[in-house]
Amino acid sequence: MILLPHTLSEITGPVYGHDDIAPGDNDLTCQHAGEPVGERIIVNGRVLDDGGHPVRSTLIEIWQANSAGRYFHHKDDHPAPLDPTFTGGGRTLTDENGFYQFVTIKPGAYPWRNHENAWRPAHIHFSLFGPAFVTRLITQMYFPGDPLFAYDPIFQSIPDKKAREHLISKFDLETTKPDWALGFRFDIILRGRESTPFEI
Ligand SMILES: [Fe+2]
Repeated sequence: MILLPHTLSEITGPVYGHDDIAPGDNDLTCQHAGEPVGERIIVNGRVLDDGGHPVRSTLIEIWQANSAGRYFHHKDDHPAPLDPTFTGGGRTLTDENGFYQFVTIKPGAYPWRNHENAWRPAHIHFSLFGPAFVTRLITQMYFPGDPLFAYDPIFQSIPDKKAREHLISKFDLETTKPDWALGFRFDIILRGRESTPFEI
């Protein structure tokens, strides 16, 4: 057992306020006057229970670093540029089919000083609310083929290889929009043998 102290990515999250979800809250590239720097991506998928049934109208919130691997947060002193056009937080509700979609920028890897030369693989934090605050689930989505997987103790803390793979999104040509953005698919399964690993 190795104690991993909580770092910036575990103790911080976005503060969205008390307003209703507005159209466009799921597009992290449209929150400021200009377009953010980086690789535009579309991330989508379905939230399903262990029987494969859609989980409808559930709140999904995401937060992430910018394309340079820096969070829009006063405690992040990583010497990488902030992007004034990118805050890195978004939210949406799943639809009738449990489907959700975000438009965002591919986040960069960032150092986290956990051990020598420690870098987190690029990831997006996901929070799912169930019917109550105590049913909130939090996880991280990764990108396929990241060379940092083997060196990341957070990713490797999930002992089962197959379970780890549930956290890696899949490149999706159907979601990819010509001349505009790459698509990644990330289905979230709440329970059962195929369930997505969640943070405790
Ligand atoms: Fe993070």
